[in-house]
Amino acid sequence: MKKLVVLTGAGMSAESGLRTFREMGGLWEEYDISEVATPEAWRRNPELVLRFYNERRKALLSALPNNGHLGLVKLEEHFKVRIITQNVDDLHERSGSTDILHLHGELRKSRSTADPRLVYDIDGWELKSGDLCEKGSQLRPHIVWFGEAVPNIEIAISDVKGADILLIIGTSMQVYPAAGLIDYAPRHTPVYLIDPNETALGSTRKIEFIRMKASEGVEKFIKMVL
Ligand code: OAD
Repeated sequence: MKKLVVLTGAGMSAESGLRTFREMGGLWEEYDISEVATPEAWRRNPELVLRFYNERRKALLSALPNNGHLGLVKLEEHFKVRIITQNVDDLHERSGSTDILHLHGELRKSRSTADPRLVYDIDGWELKSGDLCEKGSQLRPHIVWFGEAVPNIEIAISDVKGADILLIIGTSMQVYPAAGLIDYAPRHTPVYLIDPNETALGSTRKIEFIRMKASEGVEKFIKMVL
């Protein structure tokens, strides 16, 4: 089976009702990144950071996978599908995709501030100040914040290097190192990009654009490659 590597961003989950970041009405219009999504923010005002991610988690618990997620599951009948997601939601998992790598962390997990190897599932929507790891240290959201290293990037690079087809869905390709992954695809590997809007790409790579929402775009992609 050919290896299909899929890189997803916030647009993948937009039709599930989760807000994207950089569009009009996106999260970064309402919130200042430096106040909720950096290690400095966590040191300065952990309550605000916890509240921000608690709200995201609450929204996620009432969201459902959309037809785009489900289409990617169907593709597993024809390809070895590897999903690399920038999303911190669990909609790929809940839709049934079997091979998923999270680049920017997972909203429904917490992590020890003393030992990053200690990662826990969060029961429900709330992570509170005073919630401690087994070593007695405060738990933080299991999210890669701006200014932090992306621990899974090397794995993602090696996945993309092995791709027979690369499919990118719903990302503005503004955040590195994730946005740089496209350039690791082998020369002969076709690259498709599903997004209803223009994407300001930093890459000169030849791309087959599918200017549609994720749900329709995945359906179109399936028709194109099968
Ligand atoms: P952005 O908000 O930057 O981009 C979302 C993209 O989705 C845009 O290109 C939209 O045009 C597109 N889009 C909107 N609706 C869509 C739909 N129904 N179907 C398909 N595409 C649609 O989100 P990301 O590129 O994912 O990081 O952002 C990257 C990272 O920046 C995120 O992982 C997050 C953020 O700050 C962290 O929080 C660490």
